[in-house]
Amino acid sequence: MYLLILGLMALHLLVLPIYLYLTWHHNYWRKRGLVTVKPLTLLGTYPGLLTRKSNLVHDVQRAYDKYKGKHRAVGVFMTREPQILVLDPQLAHEVLVSNFRSYRDTLTSSYIRHAKWDKYAKRNPFWASGETWKRLRSEAQVGISARRLAQAYAIWEEGGKKLNEYMANQVLEHNNILETRDLCFRYTAHVMADFIWGIDAGTLTRPLENPNKIQQMASKWTSYAFYMLSIFMASVIAPFTRLLLRFRFYPKETDDFFSNLTKRSIDLRLKTGEDGSRNDYLSHLLQLREQKQASHDDLVGHALTVMLDGYDTTGTALLHALYYLAESPTAQQKLRTEVQQSLNDDKSLSFEQLCALPYLEQVVYESLRLSSLIPQYTKICTNPTHIQLNEFKRLEVEEGMTIMIPNYQFHHDKQYFPDPETFRPERFENGVYDELVQKGIFLPFSDGPRICMGMRLALLTLKSALLYIVSDYQIVTSKEKIVPSGDSGFGITLQGDIFLEFRRFMR
Ligand code: HEM
Repeated sequence: MYLLILGLMALHLLVLPIYLYLTWHHNYWRKRGLVTVKPLTLLGTYPGLLTRKSNLVHDVQRAYDKYKGKHRAVGVFMTREPQILVLDPQLAHEVLVSNFRSYRDTLTSSYIRHAKWDKYAKRNPFWASGETWKRLRSEAQVGISARRLAQAYAIWEEGGKKLNEYMANQVLEHNNILETRDLCFRYTAHVMADFIWGIDAGTLTRPLENPNKIQQMASKWTSYAFYMLSIFMASVIAPFTRLLLRFRFYPKETDDFFSNLTKRSIDLRLKTGEDGSRNDYLSHLLQLREQKQASHDDLVGHALTVMLDGYDTTGTALLHALYYLAESPTAQQKLRTEVQQSLNDDKSLSFEQLCALPYLEQVVYESLRLSSLIPQYTKICTNPTHIQLNEFKRLEVEEGMTIMIPNYQFHHDKQYFPDPETFRPERFENGVYDELVQKGIFLPFSDGPRICMGMRLALLTLKSALLYIVSDYQIVTSKEKIVPSGDSGFGITLQGDIFLEFRRFMR
């Protein structure tokens, strides 16, 4: 009996410090007068982060539904770490735009401190912080300015024609049924590789080479980076482990592949002396080398920023747009009519004409709203500030505190978008886009100085693909109902292979 009591006491002594460690912060928000979403001891507010049984979007939704409309923000816990969850879109606008100087860095930019040897990740503005972020962003974004994209527009025109030839063969071979995720990634990889390295990746011309090397490497990077991100987020429960594990977000194999590709492309460009005529991203990289003495690794880093941040996002966005159009024949026909009426006699459309098609733009925005591919943004307070919670109460925000903007929830809130699960591009008519962004309600590319750097490039790629596909094909859903769902990751998106039917119009 005596031994049992001693044993129980020893167990308590052992468990108590762990319990205290996990719950120490749980009074953090109460002490500061912020309403707290009750956390679980080990799991915090978002259990799915550790258990992998629920998706972060669903976990955030519970807190959002309970407190939205009553409070501008609530206190939550990422396992044991306090965090602010924004509930008022106007506060989101404050964080991203009007008070940007207090929230300059993103959560991902704090991760890279633990992966200093990840030489290309640390050259990507997405992962960078402070002055380094500013420099990297200003160096890279000149290469994808509206002017440069307009000058390089032939890449998307030729890519669109290749896409149609590729599809014409594929629909014959596969009885009109195409695995659409693969199709979207082939087009995205084609235009990206042509723009960044000036090469034909072969994704639309050499379909037998399956899977294509560039696609294979970009996909490998995506799954590796997402996996590492999820591990890194879960390690918030014991941040000291980050010091022990040699984290990296870019696998070595893809680093080597893209480094070689960049080297060979530059050699080829210098040999053919084509630089003056092609105003693409490679010519921008060569200018950086000449004017700013950028090293080989700097150039690879900038090339990978465009390829890796743009490939999966744009390809997945295109897949969702085609899926929603297949599900909505009326919207699809309306888009087709607009496109066909605008095409010139030789079936071409200038860059300016493409950018000015109103319904095409509305279709893209509505697809981005419904899919909300990056469902939440987490910023870091880099300069002590405060949040006015209501007329009488303000919350002091300390440096280092993280704050999450739940844009998926805004995008699916019936207060802002009536009948939110229905695909209705008309919601964006009459130029309402700017107003919704300004109000912090619609943020598919985020907003403010850290708005998606590749927004224009993504829009161009999406619009051009839709133009070429919709004008030549009727897109039809498969018999089995496909529904976007949450995996154990971050978003609620289409999972696995997506088979859609493409019926070619006879001419
Ligand atoms: C439909 C496609 C795309 C979507 C929906 C998208 C969305 C986003 C969002 C929401 C952010 C902000 C993330 C945050 O604050 O946590 C972001 C950042 C970023 N995106 Fe995109 N993106 C897309 C395509 C692209 C492309 C094509 C590029 C190629 C350059 C790109 C490059 C970047 C970069 C470099 C950042 C970090 C910007 C910074 O922190 O300054 N994205 N993107």
